[in-house]
Amino acid sequence: MTAAGFHPLTVADVTPLTADAVSIGLRVPVALAGTFAYQPGQHLPVRVPPALLPPGAAEERRTYSVCVPPGTAARDGLLRIGVRRVEGGALSTHLVERLGPGDILEVGAPTGRFVLAPGARHVVGIVGGSGVTPVLAIAGELLATDPAGRVTLVVVNRTAATVMFAEELADLKDAHPTRLLLTHVLTREPQTAPVLSGRPDAERWKLLLDGLLAGAPPVTGWYLCGPRDLVTAARAAVLDRGAEPTEVHVELFHAGDPPPVPAAAPGAAGATITARLGGRRTTVTAEHTDASVLDAVLRVRADAPFACRGGVCGTCRARVEDGEVAMSEQWALEPAELAAGYVLTCRSRAAGPRLELDYDA
Ligand SMILES: Cc1cc2nc3c(=O)[nH]c(=O)nc-3n(C[C@H](O)[C@H](O)[C@H](O)COP(=O)(O)OP(=O)(O)OC[C@H]3O[C@@H](n4cnc5c(N)ncnc54)[C@H](O)[C@@H]3O)c2cc1C
Ligand code: FES
Repeated sequence: MTAAGFHPLTVADVTPLTADAVSIGLRVPVALAGTFAYQPGQHLPVRVPPALLPPGAAEERRTYSVCVPPGTAARDGLLRIGVRRVEGGALSTHLVERLGPGDILEVGAPTGRFVLAPGARHVVGIVGGSGVTPVLAIAGELLATDPAGRVTLVVVNRTAATVMFAEELADLKDAHPTRLLLTHVLTREPQTAPVLSGRPDAERWKLLLDGLLAGAPPVTGWYLCGPRDLVTAARAAVLDRGAEPTEVHVELFHAGDPPPVPAAAPGAAGATITARLGGRRTTVTAEHTDASVLDAVLRVRADAPFACRGGVCGTCRARVEDGEVAMSEQWALEPAELAAGYVLTCRSRAAGPRLELDYDA
């Protein structure tokens, strides 16, 4: 049986990209075309039921970014994701090593706000490893739909052999030679320009961005995606150059071990949580065994959205309509969303006797 909010999609192809990464094409039935319409940069929750995992494994859910622009997906009817195997990773190992054409993956509707802002003209992408996936879709979309659109893309990897979508990046460059500036930085392989070799630190980021952006039109959007260290350093460098914080978009794929969700405030055990989801309101009483608001809501609403449970994917976002939460460190919500009252339910606990949330907001 497919879990609530997930749809069985047939795997059309699994194409090796590097020794440890694949591109996976998923066939979307015509009847689900609307459900799977997406904006470039969005990601999909993927669920692998226990039956397909090694004996004893529980259901696994993870998030993967769509890596082609919507026009491409509309043409061939395939949603495409790119997956790199993480050492010891439950789902990425399954997807990279065992998945094949004809297999079924349970996939939820696209979500996420790491998307191409309307009116963007010159976008800079700074990506590391598998972080190239959403930015490949963003870059492809801008270059295909706006004849004046420009992309400056810095792709950081250990070696040339580990670059995911190297061919697709080269093809994009060939198709738009004057509007795409593509630069590869290799942290463990020498290149002719020293600034392009080794792990970029603050000084290198400055040199690199100064060089790449000299004489270029103003940047209208910065898209940073990859490992936490790389994204943190790149964000600091970009803000240092005077970028508007609202134009700097960040997506982390993994944040290390997240700190625990704050302990419930006194009196909050037994809090009444009301959640509006899919237009329906449901109420549940928080139990002391609930590690988060999400846990409580899931007991009564199996369709409550979530994927990473670690504060990075943003799938579990809801807006607080009444009451308060205590939320621990998170990496998915932008300052404007926080100011508007959005929280990540996987990182929050009720901080009072009553809490009302709107997942539909
Ligand atoms: C918004 C978003 C979009 C994403 N898009 C993509 C994508 O397009 N392609 C892609 O390959 N991945 C993507 N990811 C990462 C993906 O969701 C999984 O986290 C990743 O595949 C690892 O899952 P796993 O089950 O194999 O590892 P797990 O079994 O969850 O973890 C195994 C070990 O690896 C560590 N770990 C987990 N994830 C990572 C990571 N990404 N890097 C380093 N160490 C890690 C864990 O701490 C643990 O020690 C995305 C994540 C998010 C939040
Ligand atoms: S489930 Fe990913 S941020 Fe909450």
